[in-house]
Amino acid sequence: MHNASTFDFSTKIGHTWFPTPLFTASGCASSGKELAQFFPLSEIGAVVTKSIALKPRLGRPTPRMAETPSGMLNSIGLQGPGIDAFLADDIPWLMTQNARIVVSISGETVDEYSILARRLRSVPGISAVEVNISCPNVENRGLVFACDPVSSRAVIEGVRRTIGGDIPIIAKLSPDVTDITEIAREVVSAGADGLSLINTLLGMVINTQTMRPHLGGKTGGLSGPAIRPVAVRAVYQVHQVLPKIPIIGMGGIRSGRDAFEFILAGASGVSVGTAIFGNPRAIMDVQNELKEILISRGFASLSEAVGYAHREDSTGALQRGADSEESEG
Ligand code: SIN
Repeated sequence: MHNASTFDFSTKIGHTWFPTPLFTASGCASSGKELAQFFPLSEIGAVVTKSIALKPRLGRPTPRMAETPSGMLNSIGLQGPGIDAFLADDIPWLMTQNARIVVSISGETVDEYSILARRLRSVPGISAVEVNISCPNVENRGLVFACDPVSSRAVIEGVRRTIGGDIPIIAKLSPDVTDITEIAREVVSAGADGLSLINTLLGMVINTQTMRPHLGGKTGGLSGPAIRPVAVRAVYQVHQVLPKIPIIGMGGIRSGRDAFEFILAGASGVSVGTAIFGNPRAIMDVQNELKEILISRGFASLSEAVGYAHREDSTGALQRGADSEESEG
């Protein structure tokens, strides 16, 4: 049996190495300042910052959040300070925390993404760039680049060209498509080194008192445990067709066991998002629990477990202590 000191929990995206596979989900921890009072940010794999645009954005009208069964609907609309303020304030602060930084970017046009990539190219301390082409809270669905293979490719090609070869690119995809593997193949052939799966699902809540849509922006993105099976399915499908491409899986992860499900489906890393709102230490809890589960199942490294659910031999799973996990509840 391996133990915590011999177990290799590290993961890689492109050529960048992360000591643990736990990432914050973009948008759920801003640039990490609030989380830093609960644990050292250097202890997780990386902070994935809230998607940043070229210019400051006020976001969508309020209300911007709604509770849903086992989930949350948000309609923030990419509120943020814009790239100049972000580079002046957030990156230097994250570096003082020794945090690994994944910068999430968002644009309204293919060119905007490329301009953002150019701004980031020579910034020290950036481990990777997440290209958010899947925010559902935009004025029209034509702006959800990840719903269309041609637009997805154009954005990633532009970012790849501008950012150069040194910074890995992670494309964040939407589950609101007929075939997510088609978009995944497209962005990988355009130069993405990894994939974030999945962004929120487009949803809506009607307020039965006012008899109108509850959210100011009418529609919003659904996150939380309600979407976990959708996310696990997306990770499984994409890993099946692109087994060598690192995937950061996300969608309703609240425990190590949830995270383990994503790893078995084919994720090389996991992000914790909505759970942070209820428990700011959730990501640390998931990290510790996931490591314990992997060790107790007899894995020597995280990478050994990635995509395990795709293996045909179910006896292997039993030998790895399926009985003891069953009793976890
Ligand atoms: C938002 O700011 O509206 C959420 C961003 C996203 O889901 O990509």
